[in-house]
Amino acid sequence: MSGQTISAAARTALPADIHDPWLDTPCLLIDLEVLDGNVARMAALAHRARVELRPHVKTHKSLRIARTQLDAGAAGICVATVGEAEVMRSGGIEDILVAYNIIGEAKLARLLPLCADGGITLTADCVEVAEGYSTLAAAAGRTLPVLLEIDSGMRRTGVHPAEAGNVASKIAALQGIELVGILTHAGHAHDVTAQPDIEAVARREARAMQQARDALERQRIPVRVVSAGSTITAPYLSADDGVTEIRPGTYVFNDLRTLEMYACTPDQIAGTVLASVVSVSEEHVVLNAGSKTLTMTATPQHGLGKIRNRPGSSFVRLSEEHGVATLGEGDELRVGDRVQVLPIHICVCVDLQQEAYGVAQGKIAEVIRIDAARRSR
Ligand SMILES: Cc1ncc(COP(=O)(O)O)c(C=O)c1O
Repeated sequence: MSGQTISAAARTALPADIHDPWLDTPCLLIDLEVLDGNVARMAALAHRARVELRPHVKTHKSLRIARTQLDAGAAGICVATVGEAEVMRSGGIEDILVAYNIIGEAKLARLLPLCADGGITLTADCVEVAEGYSTLAAAAGRTLPVLLEIDSGMRRTGVHPAEAGNVASKIAALQGIELVGILTHAGHAHDVTAQPDIEAVARREARAMQQARDALERQRIPVRVVSAGSTITAPYLSADDGVTEIRPGTYVFNDLRTLEMYACTPDQIAGTVLASVVSVSEEHVVLNAGSKTLTMTATPQHGLGKIRNRPGSSFVRLSEEHGVATLGEGDELRVGDRVQVLPIHICVCVDLQQEAYGVAQGKIAEVIRIDAARRSR
């Protein structure tokens, strides 16, 4: 056994029972049938909407799963960090969109070999960031495609659509930059609760992109790429809105957040944390999955997470290595029992693991490396 990964001997013993003692807890399980269903469903959605699918790999950070998405028809992938781009490129993935303002010499130097090889599209929401890309383009000896990020309401990064033409014309004038289009992320869809309100966020996302596109075209900048749509908003967008590609990430595994946002059904959640009961008292049970495994993200409906198939369960608190939960009336657990926890935000849970265990027909069938775990810069 080395670190948190399983031994070579255990790998050769696959398929194995999820209660097999070599499988130590807490660990991440991925239901492979549900994963395949999620990948196929989003590919079909993109096809129907006549848009390209560019999954955001920050959810799984795994070459194996990125290849599954590409094999199912994805046009390329999207990453948030240079580290993710490096890992994905090392696995032979060519078409990579870096959907983040990349700043500073250290990161730009690491991007250089990737950009020199081609296939990298960059994102900027201001001239200062794009100036760094212009220097990078000179060093790479090639023109770099760049997307201008638009704020469609999240108030995170991105220029207001009304400002888009002005910023775009300055970026497009830089040496070595080809401004090929616009990008947005409507992450504020998580802030609403009713399904019609989510649809309204998506409609505003589409309108913001149409406004930005018009602004660029008025500056005679052709807009080839209109990149929008997450797991939550992509179902409400299509080519009819002028969108050319969607970038959902979480859909690949789903979690209680996407469930709460009407983006999946309970049986479409592929990722669970397998945890052991380490202590039982009259009022609660304690699992060995705490905030360093499940994270502290909570939602009004699902709290800090749920124990699968135990509907009355809820977490009362998490400390770093302890998850304190109460069970429903008549429900019982003993020390040593194992349970599957449905996480609130799977992307962060995955990032905390070095590998996940793929489950097929109730057995561990595969070890999935989280190749880009902790590559946050
Ligand atoms: C820029 C960008 N694009 C796409 C996504 C994918 O969103 P989701 O995981 O909700 O599908 C994210 C999520 O954080 C993002 O930040």
